[in-house]
Amino acid sequence: MNESILITGANIGLGKETARQLALKEETKKVILFCRNPTKAESAKKDLEEQTGKKIFEIIIGDVSDANSVRKAVEKIKEPIDAIILNAGGVVGKTAANITPSGMNELAATNVLGHVVLVEELLTQGKIKKAVLLASSEAIRGVKPMGMKPVSMKTSSADEFAAVLDGSFFANQFDSLKAYGYVKYAATMWIFSMARKYPNIKFVAMSPGNTGGTNAPENLPAAMKFMMTYIMMPVVMPLIGMVHKLGVGASRFVDGISDERYKTGVFYASKEGKLTGDVVDQSSFFPDLKNTSFQDNADSAIHRFIK
Ligand SMILES: NC(=O)c1ccc[n+]([C@@H]2O[C@H](COP(=O)([O-])OP(=O)(O)OC[C@H]3O[C@@H](n4cnc5c(N)ncnc54)[C@H](OP(=O)(O)O)[C@@H]3O)[C@@H](O)[C@H]2O)c1
Repeated sequence: MNESILITGANIGLGKETARQLALKEETKKVILFCRNPTKAESAKKDLEEQTGKKIFEIIIGDVSDANSVRKAVEKIKEPIDAIILNAGGVVGKTAANITPSGMNELAATNVLGHVVLVEELLTQGKIKKAVLLASSEAIRGVKPMGMKPVSMKTSSADEFAAVLDGSFFANQFDSLKAYGYVKYAATMWIFSMARKYPNIKFVAMSPGNTGGTNAPENLPAAMKFMMTYIMMPVVMPLIGMVHKLGVGASRFVDGISDERYKTGVFYASKEGKLTGDVVDQSSFFPDLKNTSFQDNADSAIHRFIK
């Protein structure tokens, strides 16, 4: 039973829908919308209040690609929170390869850096009570029918993870759609390392599956955005059962923190070759996920960028 939940990137897409679904649960007393843009956050709060009839939403402003912004946001959190949903992120768009002051590129900083700082600062202050859920992705193990290749690292050493995070792993061929799976892999392996360090808190990675109705296509190159918005997501993918509605994707996050079937230290996503339907433990067909040395290497690589 989670009475208080903080969700990053909660002003639109999966984050906002997760906030809505959680607010409708009887036990929920507070939902914190962690957003980078105050105007978008206020507008989402107003919508959520209207949609749920509940005035239990609070806003915390922070940018997850910037460690100091997250630290300032943490100062505003006075009470312990039951569950944290690390949802902000995506493929980022044109600026994905830009190096941020941390040394990570923007893609990695957005999907990894701020979330690690947020959770670790809150844990230091004893302010996470029950669960942390990371929005991960099927991009890690690839999707054969869609031609999406799995993440393939040579050694999964700390140096190799660090190269993923600063973009040098991809040399001159940086493509944020490809790099995205690698960055989510680093974040997912960090979640597993945290699950071993904090056995009393549930650390789970969950993919929402291929979900329509989010803002994600906005960050794609123009031609791909057009294809995804008008052809693939509304027409082709539903025909082949490769996309589900916003509410379905968000319910995976809600269940991930609320349902005891979902265990700490596991990455749940769609079955092999699928992007929708039931979720299963991904280590059954991507065994590197269970390698504790690789998990520790990801953790150590991430901390090279946190000053
Ligand atoms: N949609 C899918 O099919 C799918 C599949 C697998 C995994 N996922 C993952 O699920 C999560 C949510 O995806 P979505 O499709 O709902 O995306 P979305 O509609 O684009 O929403 C992304 C959210 O993250 C916020 N955000 C981005 N950068 C941020 C930053 N630096 N600091 C704070 N907030 C930031 C955005 O805020 P702004 O509005 O201010 O930009 C927005 O609220 C992502 O982590 C994504 O990788 C999605």
